[in-house]
Amino acid sequence: MTGDLETLFGIDAPIVLGPFGGMSSIPLTASISEAGGLGSFGLYGYPGERIRETAAALRAATGRPFALNLWLPTGDEVEPGDTDLARARAAIAPLLGAAGVAPPPLPESFLPPLDEQLDAVWDAAPAALSVVFGVPAAETVAEAHRRGIRVVGTATSVAEAVALAAGGVDAIVASGAEAAGHRVSFLRRAEESLVGTVALVPQVVDAVDVPVIAAGGIADRRGVAAAFALGAAGVQVGSAFLRTRQSAASEAHRTALRAAADTDTVLTRAMSGRLARGIPNRAVRAIEEADAVAPFPAQNWLTAVFRAAAPNDADLISMWAGQAAGLSRSEDAEEVFAELAAGIPARPH
Ligand SMILES: Cc1cc2nc3c(=O)[nH]c(=O)nc-3n(C[C@H](O)[C@H](O)[C@H](O)COP(=O)(O)O)c2cc1C
Repeated sequence: MTGDLETLFGIDAPIVLGPFGGMSSIPLTASISEAGGLGSFGLYGYPGERIRETAAALRAATGRPFALNLWLPTGDEVEPGDTDLARARAAIAPLLGAAGVAPPPLPESFLPPLDEQLDAVWDAAPAALSVVFGVPAAETVAEAHRRGIRVVGTATSVAEAVALAAGGVDAIVASGAEAAGHRVSFLRRAEESLVGTVALVPQVVDAVDVPVIAAGGIADRRGVAAAFALGAAGVQVGSAFLRTRQSAASEAHRTALRAAADTDTVLTRAMSGRLARGIPNRAVRAIEEADAVAPFPAQNWLTAVFRAAAPNDADLISMWAGQAAGLSRSEDAEEVFAELAAGIPARPH
C-alpha cells in the first residue's frame, strides 16, 4: 500500500533529503524543507548538546517540517579497549603522515549513548525521527508518537521492512544497493543484502502496509517517476543533493561527485568498519591492501583522525557517492528539488 507522505509529515511534495551522518548541513536541510520537501539531518555521533544546538539552528533557518536521523546500536559495536587496534593503526600510519597528524589516544567511548541522543531528539521535536540499522524499541516508537513525531525506519530487504512495519514505524525507506553511504542492513550481513532499488521497492510495497520511500540511484525526474511506478509514496535522495553548493561536502568531494561515472563507486569497509558505497581513493586502497580493518566504530574513529585533518584532500576523505551521483546536472539544491518534483505523477487529491 502507498500512503500520503504529504499528510504524514505536513509537507508539500514527497521528496526527502537523505540524512548525511557526519556531513549534513543546516543550509541544505533547511532549503529542502523550505522548498516543500522533508529536509533530514544526520545526527550520527552527535552527543545530546550538539543535537540541541543543531535543532535550534534548523528552527532558526526554517519553520517547515524536518527529520532528524539516528543510527541504532546493533549490539556488535566495539568499545575502546575491546580490540587490539595495532594492525589497523599500522595500516593508517602513512595516511596520518600524509595528513600531518599524530595518532591520538583512545577516547573514553566512541559514540554517545542512544538514550542521550533520544532525549535531545524529544526536546527538538522534529516532524520525523528516521533511523537506520534496526527496528526502534517499542518504547521509542510510543514516545515519539506520544509527542506527535513520526517514525521512519530504513530497510535493505523485504524481511527488514516487515520487521520495521511490525515495530510500528509510520513509513519505510527502501534503500537499494545503488545508494551512497552505508548499507544499513540489520538482519543479514550487508554483503548479503545488496538488492537493487528496482527489485526492492515493489517487493517492499507488496509486503507492508505503510508508505514506502524509495532510495538509491534516484537523481532526476525519471528516477522519481520510476519510483512511483514501482509503488513508492515518495523518494529519498542523497548524492544529487550532496553535490550542491548548499551541502557540507568539501569541494574535493563535490568535484568527485560531479565527475562520477556509473562504475566509479565501490562498496568498502575500509573507512568505517561497515560496508559503505563511495569512490575509492588512496585511503580506501591503502587500507584494503593492508587487509587490516578494525571493527565498527573503531575503524571510523581511526580514519576520522586523518579525514578531519585533511578535509579537502580527495586522497584522504570518505568520498561517499551513489551509482547515480553523476546523473544530476545542477549545483543548486532548489534546482535539484525542482527537477525531482517534475517526476511526481499527478495524483487524485
Ligand atoms: C555522506 C553520506 C552520509 C550518509 N549518512 C546517512 C545516515 O547517517 N543515515 C541515513 O539514514 N542515511 C545516510 N546516507 C544515505 C542517504 O541519506 C540516502 O539514503 C542515499 O544517499 C540515497 O541514495 P543516492 O545517493 O543514490 O541518492 C548517507 C549518504 C551519504 C552520501
